[in-house]
This record gives sequence, structure tokens and C-alpha cells, in this order.
Amino acid sequence: MRITRPARALLAGCALFIWIADAQAPAPANLGQLMKGTLYPESNVVFAAQDQNPAEVTRAKDPNMATDLLQSSYGKWEAVENSALAIAEVATLLEIPGRKCANGVDVPVRNADWMKFVQQLRDAGMTAYTAAQSKNQDRMIDAADVMTKACQGCHLRYREKRAAERCK
Ligand code: HEC
Repeated sequence: MRITRPARALLAGCALFIWIADAQAPAPANLGQLMKGTLYPESNVVFAAQDQNPAEVTRAKDPNMATDLLQSSYGKWEAVENSALAIAEVATLLEIPGRKCANGVDVPVRNADWMKFVQQLRDAGMTAYTAAQSKNQDRMIDAADVMTKACQGCHLRYREKRAAERCK
């Protein structure tokens, strides 16, 4: 069979497209780094709102440089709202293929229970967001409980094991 030049160009184009679509650039952060850099600090802001009224947190001396978000320029209840939303958004980063766990195992995005735990985390973020909007600490206690369960459910299944066995 003779392949015409336009057909050859088309085939080459398709091959290039498939190659690009298939080549997933590895994610810059492994799963552990992502947890420590995002979910850990953000959930601490949500958890803190249980026993400390965010409205009463005083601004840092230089709020633009504050490492405690509650004392920052975007502090108090706003910090709780934004941290809760960030948790819901970070859930999406736990779903994309191409990320490794610290032990080199792929993040198990193909496992149905992994995706279920991720959705639970996203829901917990939105529950905390609604609670923060109400500026009601009793509701923050309930939301923190939902959040703790969302973190723990996945950790029990995928984290609480020997390093080599994690994420499997
Ligand atoms: C969908 C599953 C999942 C959810 C939900 C999840 N984690 Fe993780 N987390 C893991 C796994 C798996 C590891 C181990 C990562 C690795 O070894 O690279 C981990 C590791 C961590 C670490 C690093 C410590 C360690 O032992 O490696 C912290 C801190 C952490 N998670 C906090 C949280 C918090 C806080 C939440 C909830 C707001 C949360 N995680 C929700 C799966 C999850």
C-alpha cells in the first residue's frame, strides 16, 4: 500500500499527539511533601478554630510576614475559610496521575477506595468552609471531627504500614 504524503503527515501528527498526551511530566512533589506542605498546615488552622475563637486572634506585628495564618493580613475567620477551601482544592491534586509516594510507589489513583477517600477529604473541606462562614465554634468542632475522620480513613488504609508497603 502506498501512503500519500498528506496521509503520512497526518499519521506523524497523530503519533506526536499520542506521545505528548501519554508523557506525563512527573509531579514536582511526592505525596508526603504535598501532605506536609498543604494539608498539614491548612488542617491545623481548621483544628485551631475549635478552642480558639478566630475573631479574637490578634494580628501579628507584621501581618504580611505572619507564618500563623490566623494572625496574618488574611487572618481570623477568613484564614479558616480559606484553609478549608484550600483543603477541598488540594483533594484534586491527590487525584492526578503521575505523582509518587515517598517510597517510589505511584499514588494509587486507579484504586476506587483511594478516590473515595479523596472525595471524603473534599467534602470535609467544604463542611469546614460552611462552618467557618457561620463563625460558630460549635460547628467548627463538628467540622473538625469530619476532617479528622477523612484524614484517618485514608491513613489507616494507605499510610499506617511499613514504608515500603505504603500507597499499595
Ligand atoms: C486519600 C488519602 C489521604 C488523605 C485523605 C490524607 N492523607 Fe495524609 N497521607 C497519605 C499517605 C498515603 C501518606 C504517606 C505519603 C508518603 O509516604 O509519601 C500521607 C502522609 C501524610 C503526612 C506526612 C507524614 C508521614 O507519615 O508521611 C502528613 C503530615 C499527612 N499525611 C497529613 C494529612 C492530613 C492532616 C490529612 C487530612 C486533612 C490527610 N493527610 C489526608 C494519604 C492521605
